[in-house]
Amino acid sequence: MPRKRHIVLEAEITGIAYGGRGIFRWDGLAVFVDGAVPGDRVRLAIVRRRKSFAEARLLEVLAPSPDRIPAPCRYSGVCGGCTWQFLAYGKQLEYKRRSVAESLAHIGGMQGVPVHPAIASPAVFAYRNKMEFTCSDRRWLLPDEIDDPDLDRRFALGLHVPGTFDKVLDTEACLLQPDAGNRILAEIRRLILASGRPPYGLKRHEGFWRFAVLRNAVSSGAWMVNLVTAAADPPLLSEIAEKLVATFPEIVSVVNNVTARRAGIAVGEIEHPLCGERSLRECIGRFVFEISANSFFQTNTRGAERLYETVRAFANLEGGETVVDLYSGTGTIPVFLAERCRRIVGIEIGASAVEDAIRNCRLNGIENCRFHEGDILEGLAALEENPAVVIADPPRAGMAKEVVRELLRLGPRRIVYVSCNPATLARDLALLQEGYETLEVQPVDLFPHTFHIEAVARLEKRS
Ligand SMILES: C[S@@+](CC[C@H](N)C(=O)[O-])C[C@H]1O[C@@H](n2cnc3c(N)ncnc32)[C@H](O)[C@@H]1O
Repeated sequence: MPRKRHIVLEAEITGIAYGGRGIFRWDGLAVFVDGAVPGDRVRLAIVRRRKSFAEARLLEVLAPSPDRIPAPCRYSGVCGGCTWQFLAYGKQLEYKRRSVAESLAHIGGMQGVPVHPAIASPAVFAYRNKMEFTCSDRRWLLPDEIDDPDLDRRFALGLHVPGTFDKVLDTEACLLQPDAGNRILAEIRRLILASGRPPYGLKRHEGFWRFAVLRNAVSSGAWMVNLVTAAADPPLLSEIAEKLVATFPEIVSVVNNVTARRAGIAVGEIEHPLCGERSLRECIGRFVFEISANSFFQTNTRGAERLYETVRAFANLEGGETVVDLYSGTGTIPVFLAERCRRIVGIEIGASAVEDAIRNCRLNGIENCRFHEGDILEGLAALEENPAVVIADPPRAGMAKEVVRELLRLGPRRIVYVSCNPATLARDLALLQEGYETLEVQPVDLFPHTFHIEAVARLEKRS
């Protein structure tokens, strides 16, 4: 079959879209290009054309944007772990701030909301405290690996090619995690290859090894390893755990999550402790947190401190308030706010996160927080008193419409909305406009070299 011929053209990239893609206008259409940034002169192929937009594949950068810098990682441009390494960090921050402002204007229809310059991440490499490496029976090769006949193409342990679920690179080192993580990853790869058990193939739903999830505590240098497998094998996993701990004394916890699900998610239905503790202890500011393998915890520890300081400043508590923290995870926000208010109720669906949250309050000597385990709507219905301030930190999908409606009905005087997705933030703030004015938004960068951004919005009740 002859291959479809694409239109090839040269263009100058003039803008950046949410999601980090470069944009230019062609034939009356906005055209989106992965891997290109404003100021680049490029050669590209139009690969998809719709009524109102088109998509192009970058073929060559003819003249680079002055904002381009050399990317230090050998996987840059191929790996989905980070897609903006070639862009100067100051520019990343500028584009992230702009994406928040543009989402508010275009998705939320909200004009004139002040969006402050993004707060930078304290570190731009080695900042991630958690990395999930996928084990696959099909290795995705880098351009310089394609002709190497000695490479084993049926095994990979690494990160995905952007936007794919089954194209996995065999990642030797990831610059987003501290270097000790790369040494641990290399040893896990060696032990997996020596185990005689096959990597898991998502397409065939066969194989044993699924993920290696590495977590580290910035405050102590301790590590937790979560080996995710498709079936249990206690003797093998215990042997591997012992070898890991013997080689790396900084590993304080090894657990095994077992999952039979087809979905490519590194969470098991059952967790077996293998070595050491069942959780990892981390400090943010002067607070201590214990995090178990499957609980949510912000992945940039030092950046998270800036995020929670922003939440605390926006909440502007005076001491007598009742506060509700929606989507409270492991209780980090309640711990940060507890001494500034009378009482906090956290609502969180994850059982292990709620257990962690209760333990975290205890660890920090906090007695005025309690947690409701369950869905937000259910938790809101069970409230004993109306809160003065509500904090909401939902997942990427944002808040369900019913939750927004319930918030409007409850009518706290202030809402602090923490979001990792400017699009759903804009949608939800627009819905809340009925009762609340958004006075300011502070982007906080927790994810250097990706287009992702956290943003904290301060909403006050309309009088
Ligand atoms: C972005 S995290 C926020 C965690 C926390 N605020 C923090 O900073 O660590 C979102 C949390 O919402 C929880 N969650 C998701 N959907 C939920 C729902 N419908 N009801 C209650 N909690 C939910 C998740 O389990 C997760 O812990």
